[in-house]
Amino acid sequence: MDFNEVIKSRRSIRKFKTQPIPDKYIQEIIEAGRLAPSVSNIQSTRYVIIKSSEVKEKLNEYTVPFVKNAPVVIVCCAYKKAWLEQEEKFLELKNMGAFKDFYQETEQQINNFAKDGKLEIMANPEINKYYTWQHAAIAIDHMTLKAVDLGLGSCWVGFVDREKVRKLINLNEDYEVIALLPIGYPSYNPLPRPRLSINDILLKEL
Ligand SMILES: Cc1cc2nc3c(=O)[nH]c(=O)nc-3n(C[C@H](O)[C@H](O)[C@H](O)COP(=O)(O)O)c2cc1C
Repeated sequence: MDFNEVIKSRRSIRKFKTQPIPDKYIQEIIEAGRLAPSVSNIQSTRYVIIKSSEVKEKLNEYTVPFVKNAPVVIVCCAYKKAWLEQEEKFLELKNMGAFKDFYQETEQQINNFAKDGKLEIMANPEINKYYTWQHAAIAIDHMTLKAVDLGLGSCWVGFVDREKVRKLINLNEDYEVIALLPIGYPSYNPLPRPRLSINDILLKEL
């Protein structure tokens, strides 16, 4: 599908046909998430695919009711220990030439910030948690758009008891559940939801 058409036609879909989704499509959706960018390329987002009706029934206790009716639910998680590999992942990027023509200049600038005591403001480890959520958000958006491209519908579900779901799907505390992504063939065709106008959101041009 044309890229603009994908973006324009995406809706949050909350009613699905019972028709199963080909495994190949699920793999393509995960692949779209896999290609999302992340800080230092740490790639902290992980996925659990739920197809089992039994697991979906249990999941229903911890989230909104329509989720259980989707043929597939992807639980999008953060792997918190991915940060431990940040340096390694950064070096991998550097060694493959990702920063080729501007690395030295950047390194010099970072050293200057460190000298001026400004580095902590710019690279605060507490912000890592927010980055981890941002990584998942980008990946989820890639996946929702890929679903549209495949003729499928999905809905980002943030209303979920994250800890209960983490335990239900048997993940240890190194993982944090971020959101659910129920996916299926839409059984309706909703109108576009209202959006602010460009004038409302574009504050200024400097
Ligand atoms: C972070 C996030 C969390 C959301 N959580 C829920 C949710 O728990 N339940 C739900 O029905 N929709 C949820 N939505 C979907 C929004 O309600 C929806 O995106 C919004 O109403 C605009 O509609 P549209 O996606 O069809 O354009 C969520 C969306 C985002 C981005």
